[in-house]
Amino acid sequence: MKYSEKTYRENMRIKVDYNNMMKSFVGEKEGFSDEDFKDGAKIIQKAYKSVKENRGKGMMGWTELPYNQKEVVADIIAEAKKIREKFDNFVVLGIGGSALGPIAAFQALCHLRHNELNKSRRKYPKLYVEDNVDPERMNALFDVLDLEKTMFNVITKSGSTSETMSQYLIIMDALKKKMGEKAREHMIATTSASKGNLIKIAKAEGLKTFYIPDGVGGRFSELCPVGLLPAAVCGIDIKAMLAGAAYMDKLCKEKDVRKNPALLSAFLEYRSMERGKNVSVMMPYADSLKYIADWYCQLWGESLGKAEDLEGNKVYAGQTPVKALGVTDQHSQIQLYREGPFDKVITFIGVERYRNDVVINEGCKDIPDVNFLCGHTMGELITAERKATEYALTTANRLNYTVLLPEVNEFTIGQLLYMFEMETAYCGAMLNIDTFNQPGVEGGKNATYALFGRKGYEKTKEEMDKAPKKVDKYIC
Ligand code: PA5
Repeated sequence: MKYSEKTYRENMRIKVDYNNMMKSFVGEKEGFSDEDFKDGAKIIQKAYKSVKENRGKGMMGWTELPYNQKEVVADIIAEAKKIREKFDNFVVLGIGGSALGPIAAFQALCHLRHNELNKSRRKYPKLYVEDNVDPERMNALFDVLDLEKTMFNVITKSGSTSETMSQYLIIMDALKKKMGEKAREHMIATTSASKGNLIKIAKAEGLKTFYIPDGVGGRFSELCPVGLLPAAVCGIDIKAMLAGAAYMDKLCKEKDVRKNPALLSAFLEYRSMERGKNVSVMMPYADSLKYIADWYCQLWGESLGKAEDLEGNKVYAGQTPVKALGVTDQHSQIQLYREGPFDKVITFIGVERYRNDVVINEGCKDIPDVNFLCGHTMGELITAERKATEYALTTANRLNYTVLLPEVNEFTIGQLLYMFEMETAYCGAMLNIDTFNQPGVEGGKNATYALFGRKGYEKTKEEMDKAPKKVDKYIC
């Protein structure tokens, strides 16, 4: 295994370049100084201590995923092999943390046109992740699937999320109508072993089941069976992903903030929030990383957006995460980022070596304004545009920093996911909030249950009925 070699690990290490957060680059008014790190020492060390003391406990069970899944990983790899031999499609039914991680890893680590490749080139099943309850989408899925050749994976930690359970009911009904008893051979459940309805259903139906550990919340679950099974089915080396996460975990245990990438970026974001930077833009310069930004938005938004601190004081904490894609969004968003309000921190994700490249061939010899591109590669162009955008924002005094991946592969993606999880944990500790709950999401879930007449939600229904009714006056 390459990743067991020290040189490989060091060569593949993700780095955080925060030059453009410093006064000497972004200007006196907006930037940070070495003094800011000294002033912040107390809050940094408090967060460091809190994460250190809580890791592996309560809802921080995810810190142990790189280490404690030997048997689960073996089971996943064996199951994935069976699935690949029998099925052409693998469909994830889930939403939020049960969908965004699988999508992000698939986009990052599989061929960018995986589902469109012909079977001999693709080698692995097509992957679909149904993270919505749009009826048109569900009907469209039925139009492209041969149920006989499809394995479904219903994923829900709580085992009761309406969207996921409705997807499950629709699919299970279709499977039973088509193949009767054999339906169970087309459905795998990934859920909590100890609570929720899905585990009961899975047992009653005799479904193959993988478990989401109690201390692993939805948005922190990509590195457990939630993400590992779909990834393994698509041919992703999940052991390398976990090795990358373990490597990053080591870096994130560093006490010195300047050597700990997650603690460092958490502190810079935390202080930026204090200075009114209410928006965190995540802008990867690679299509493969496009959905890492979506995944990050849930992680950052749902973890840090909290009304109360740990003492119950109203704090209304959080920073609105925004996803952008380089270079695409240079042509739609950058005008705002460079000249709009000073309310953002922009995180670029750069890639040093793209997995392949395309030469811009000779042409238009008599038009120098076009010909200057010739002889370069698209890899050079996207990298130049990232650096140019960094420069343009920095000279306009806009806070930005770059997370640099040597390459996109399983080892670096494992690092990246884990680093963002750790950054979120550190930042939540600095904000003194509960990073791992989601009362706001539960509120919406409960209101849906009430509207659909679910037993136990009568009080919520009564409250909703009492809410002011919409009037035509305000509809234009
Ligand atoms: O992070 C979270 O806990 C949530 O966003 C969940 O992932 C999401 O609500 C889906 O929940 P569940 O996995 O219980 O269906």
